[in-house]
Amino acid sequence: MPREFNQIVQGDCVASLAQLPESSVDLVFADPPFNIGYDYDVYKDRKKPNEYLAWSRQWIKGVRRALKPTGTFWLAIGDEYAAELKVLSQEIGFTCRSWVVWYYTFGVNCKYKFSRSHAHLFHFVVDPTNCTFNTEAIRVPSARQLVYADNRANPVGRLPDDTWILRPQDCVDGFQAEEDTWYFPRVAGTFKERAGFHGCQMPEQLLGRIIRSCSNAGELVLDPFSGSATTLVVAKKLERNYLGFELSEDYVKRGTERLQKVQPGDRLEGAPEPLVSAPNTANGKSLASKVRKKKVVANPDQTEENATPASQRAGKKGSGKSRSESQQNLFE
Ligand SMILES: C[S@@+](CC[C@H](N)C(=O)[O-])C[C@H]1O[C@@H](n2cnc3c(N)ncnc32)[C@H](O)[C@@H]1O
Repeated sequence: MPREFNQIVQGDCVASLAQLPESSVDLVFADPPFNIGYDYDVYKDRKKPNEYLAWSRQWIKGVRRALKPTGTFWLAIGDEYAAELKVLSQEIGFTCRSWVVWYYTFGVNCKYKFSRSHAHLFHFVVDPTNCTFNTEAIRVPSARQLVYADNRANPVGRLPDDTWILRPQDCVDGFQAEEDTWYFPRVAGTFKERAGFHGCQMPEQLLGRIIRSCSNAGELVLDPFSGSATTLVVAKKLERNYLGFELSEDYVKRGTERLQKVQPGDRLEGAPEPLVSAPNTANGKSLASKVRKKKVVANPDQTEENATPASQRAGKKGSGKSRSESQQNLFE
């Protein structure tokens, strides 16, 4: 294992990418700043649109250069630049395999528009005829197995759809009418209705799905915007080599500490398969009522809706707001 892997390198990712040997990386996961005015500690997230796009072109070109011909590039991005960065990545030579919509809970409630509850995850490859896609590593139980006790169910489950929900057992509470990801079941063949004619720290389970499906043990996973080092932590747990770039010295330090606390083979945080390993909210213990009681004591003005998750308050500097809260301020 080369010494220069398995660390977070402090500095600008464009320069760091250029120093990597060409065709040396197996998988890149990038969650860049969304250019929405989010308050990072050193990076200023408010470039002019043409500057942001020119900069995005630079680092995506760097990613393309660093990836092996069999390599994969996942890009997490918000609504504001999703369309532009998809087209730009394709211009640079990537093929888009899937456009995954990640539906999340704990976004912020907006008063004058639909509350944002999703991000875009683009799955790009260099060569669609020669790339890693380990379907057996990411199968989930099917409705036939879980709900219908249907003998025709494939015992090893099915592939996830391209709308990712981390706690699907909470769909009933999650897809609220005022949010901008709306859930309607497809009118399937068996339905009566059928007439004959779909704060920046990423969840480990989300990265787990990406890393398991698009890389193999011992390969190199790169995150040019390491942030809190989630990608690298998950890569380490899943026995991949990893490399992160990050502008902020403080994030590098804290990310490195987070990395030091985990070992290859450790389990990922979060429920590995929420449908079967966790109760739905109605049947779970209500932390909300516990938290609400504490908040009444700590801060009588703070409601559950505007509470900021602890993970997003951890930074040294910054507004302490999640990325979706910044979006609300900008676009409401
Ligand atoms: C959205 S966050 C990444 C969050 C990360 N996915 C996680 O799970 O914690 C983007 C990060 O990119 C960093 N950043 C911004 N510009 C950079 C650059 N040119 N090179 C390296 N890192 C940069 C910011 O400091 C910030 O930590």
